[in-house]
Amino acid sequence: MTLTPLVVDVDTGVDDAMALALAARLEGHELVAVTTVAGNVPLEYTTPNTLKVLEWVGSPAPVYRGMSAPLARPLVSAGHVHGDDGIGGWELPDPSTGTGDMTAPEAIIRLAREHAGNIDFAFVGPLTNLAVAVLLEPELPRMVSHLAIMGGAFFKPGNVTADAEFNIYVDPEAAALVADAGFNATWVGLDVTHQTVLDRDTWASLADADARDAVLVREVCRASFEKRGVEQVHLHDPLAVVVVERPSLIDGIPGEISVDVGAHRRGRTRVSPHVNGTGQAAQSVKVAEFQALFRGLLEG
Ligand code: BDR
Ligand code: CA
Repeated sequence: MTLTPLVVDVDTGVDDAMALALAARLEGHELVAVTTVAGNVPLEYTTPNTLKVLEWVGSPAPVYRGMSAPLARPLVSAGHVHGDDGIGGWELPDPSTGTGDMTAPEAIIRLAREHAGNIDFAFVGPLTNLAVAVLLEPELPRMVSHLAIMGGAFFKPGNVTADAEFNIYVDPEAAALVADAGFNATWVGLDVTHQTVLDRDTWASLADADARDAVLVREVCRASFEKRGVEQVHLHDPLAVVVVERPSLIDGIPGEISVDVGAHRRGRTRVSPHVNGTGQAAQSVKVAEFQALFRGLLEG
């Protein structure tokens, strides 16, 4: 089978780490690059975290360092959720390789040109790198077959404010630019990602696991269960990555996506239904099918 090239952009991040493990295992895609951005924690953490996680899961995908701050605002991060280091204090070996010698937006453009019409993207952090790439190459949306974005809260409240989901709240100007650019994009927002979880019992069942992916899931989530005391970890970013491989997991509303950038409703995402809209806002997800795929990761 010919594999479709896939670029994943991350702000690693607990659920980003699990998404990377999944991205490296997809049967229909080849992970050709991973790009990093500031978000959950600053770029000084998200980049080494990404290198370490990829090495842990045995992926040879090159990593490109991206934007260290949102387009127009200071960074708001989420160390209280992901730990100050972004991966819940999990001590991974130092990476043996460094980042590529292009910036993330440059790498995104180069790969899109090289595979124009046959490349998928999954963006699971603030959309800063993609916005910069579109500014540098306005034809980019026409080159990408399918873009899955973890971002937004279209039909339910956000997780930073009542209006906004984290990735969009952090860089609403970038999200607005991407929404306007005309990508064939699926916006995988909290409306669906809040239904996909790793619960405490499943996590506890990994206590003696020794397969690398299962150890990753166990260790990266340990602080969430043991220190923060949550009963479940949302699988936001893993779902978005799986959506590029299996778009039928999602049912959505096709239309024009817009993002509020004003102070009043900063980061609010909306979909105006339209048959010719290039975006779609995910409204429901086949939870059992997704959980089976995720379990496959845990079971190797
Ligand atoms: C999103 O924000 C981050 O904290 C997660 O990694 C995910 O991408 C969920 O709102
Ligand atoms: Ca993320």
